[in-house]
Amino acid sequence: LKEIHEQPTAIRDTLVGRTSHSGRLMLDELRIDEDTLRDVNKVFVVACGTAFHAGLVAKYAIEHWTRLPVEIDIASEFRYRDPVLDANTLTLAVSQSGETIDTLEALRHACRQGSRVIAVTNTVGSSIAREADGILYTHAGPEIGVAATKTFATQMVALHLVALYLAQVRGSMFPEEIAEVVGRMHDLPEQVDLAIDLDEEVRELAAMYADARDVIFIGRHTGYPAALEGALKLKEISYIHAEGHPAGELKHGPIALLEEGLPVVAVATECHVYGKVLSNIQEVKARGARVIAVATEGDREIGKYADHVLFVPRTPELLAPVVVSVPLQLLAYHVGKARGCDVDQPRNLAKSVTVE
Ligand code: AGP
Repeated sequence: LKEIHEQPTAIRDTLVGRTSHSGRLMLDELRIDEDTLRDVNKVFVVACGTAFHAGLVAKYAIEHWTRLPVEIDIASEFRYRDPVLDANTLTLAVSQSGETIDTLEALRHACRQGSRVIAVTNTVGSSIAREADGILYTHAGPEIGVAATKTFATQMVALHLVALYLAQVRGSMFPEEIAEVVGRMHDLPEQVDLAIDLDEEVRELAAMYADARDVIFIGRHTGYPAALEGALKLKEISYIHAEGHPAGELKHGPIALLEEGLPVVAVATECHVYGKVLSNIQEVKARGARVIAVATEGDREIGKYADHVLFVPRTPELLAPVVVSVPLQLLAYHVGKARGCDVDQPRNLAKSVTVE
């Protein structure tokens, strides 16, 4: 809970010194020259668990802002599928600890194949930081809780900085467009603070659903990685079976799981696919499931379809997971507490996974 509350500061610290007043990105610490970045024709992201979810958000951002194709891999699968890498590919290795062996081995494989590698990590001097060509540190401060929270928020922020820097160097966005996004990123700490204020509301909800056997999380676009992360947090902390799905994929299988009273958490914040999320919510309701929606404040539609709504501040869709994930973290925390679980040291998990 302490680390959830530290997120506004962690985000501020991750942004500080990396943007000018005019909104220009200053990331000399990447240590990869601009010509090399201009020659990149493909980006790979490798990561595990929560870091993978941050990487998935970054995929949407990098592709949208730079028009570079992005492939993302669960790090433990990366080198075994023989990915096509060369000197014109850029690999982003994302890891809070910087010691996750699967991510480290994926990074080593990318290096051996000639790819440039940038590490996004929270741990200064870690193996991943030492072996990468360039580093962008997340400045989240030490994270003790086994379940990643503030490092997830700062990974998304750091990866967005890398995406915007690529856009700046490659000229795929106008400087004013970059400055606009940078400005919105500086609003995030305050918005996350407002989302933390949902604590009591989430605690009451958690009391209602603490006995659930299964919980399904759904979302579209960047709401999808947010749903995956919500499900991961809940299963790690409360041991409830939780699954995250792209909302549009429900009807291709997972809809068979829906039954009377099953809690379904829907990420339904304002975005270009909001209407489609609403129709997915209706499909869920029609099967008798109970919908807990995370929506944008001021949304007057959502209340017609969802059983409970947690309102978060309006945020651009590529930045939204930073804010949306807060009530989902709080939900996992309060459900875990209500079930008497050790939320700091969940069973079977380690903070740093150094075995394959
Ligand atoms: C997050 O809550 C998990 N404990 C886990 O998924 C973690 O994100 C994963 O093991 C990757 O760790 P890393 O960021 O240190 O590489």
